[in-house]
Amino acid sequence: MEQPTTVTADESALVAAFEARIAAGESIEPKDWMPERYRRQLIRMMSQHAHSEIVGMLPEGNWITRAPSLRRKMSLIAKVQDEAGHGLYIYCGTETLGVDRHELVAQLLDGRAKYSSIFNYPTLSWADMGVIGWFVDGAAIVNQTILAKASYGPYARAMVRICKEENFHKRQGYEICATLANGTPAQREMLQEAVNRFWWPSLMMFGPSDTDSPNSAELLKWRVKRKTNDELRQRFINLTVPQAAAIGVTLPDPDLRFNAETNNWEFGEIDWAEFFQVIGGNGPCNKERIAARQKAHDDGAWVREAATAHAGKQRRDVQAA
Ligand SMILES: [Fe+2]
Ligand SMILES: [Fe+2]
Repeated sequence: MEQPTTVTADESALVAAFEARIAAGESIEPKDWMPERYRRQLIRMMSQHAHSEIVGMLPEGNWITRAPSLRRKMSLIAKVQDEAGHGLYIYCGTETLGVDRHELVAQLLDGRAKYSSIFNYPTLSWADMGVIGWFVDGAAIVNQTILAKASYGPYARAMVRICKEENFHKRQGYEICATLANGTPAQREMLQEAVNRFWWPSLMMFGPSDTDSPNSAELLKWRVKRKTNDELRQRFINLTVPQAAAIGVTLPDPDLRFNAETNNWEFGEIDWAEFFQVIGGNGPCNKERIAARQKAHDDGAWVREAATAHAGKQRRDVQAA
């Protein structure tokens, strides 16, 4: 972890003014003064988010050619395309902090930057498309609704639009699940099997418990985050348990029970050893995902070259005029 930088007297006055603005609920914009540590934490968090959107296209992209009907295929294509858009908004937002996108992509490809652990799991059946929309996009909504109130303006504004699209993603996923739940015994079994595989990894998406999350306290203080990982995870569980009951699906946790005093669904132990394995690059599909991103990057080299040449030509034309 980085060490806090030493601050001079001048800078501590700037930090105090900055923190007063945050406390007053003002949003911080790209040209405003900000502590270097705030800028770096945002770059880390936003680029990680952008990478997750882009890598997240891969497990579902895998099923576009095998969607069971034209309607399902159209929805799935639209959803996967939306995720590319989410990645682009957030990369653009990250660039307002003075970092180059090529650098961010390089960090993803060489393993210095992380992305959401959930996308390192394989998609083995059509039911996975339903369950990912329901759980994974559902979890994303819980996270991103809060991020829409983040203190950094460009990030917060990107979240407002993204959340609208995530709602469509979640509904298309839940609708697939509801349809399978009303289908043949084989379809119901396929759905339950997908739920069993994705439930725990979806809970891990919120990140380690706050007691083990080194960045949480600082991000909360600066209102980049507004709720802790555990609070968000609990909210997701509380929302999802009744949705599972409504379509007759069993969540694979014998310890799930409602606590009437706290109004929360209590749940069993998360396997954090698995989470740290996956985040550390040793999940079932980490290597495959990065290889697919690397191939896309290599295949796109000619587009980047052409765009750079075109921009250079335009610059020369302007200078000549
Ligand atoms: Fe997204
Ligand atoms: Fe989504």
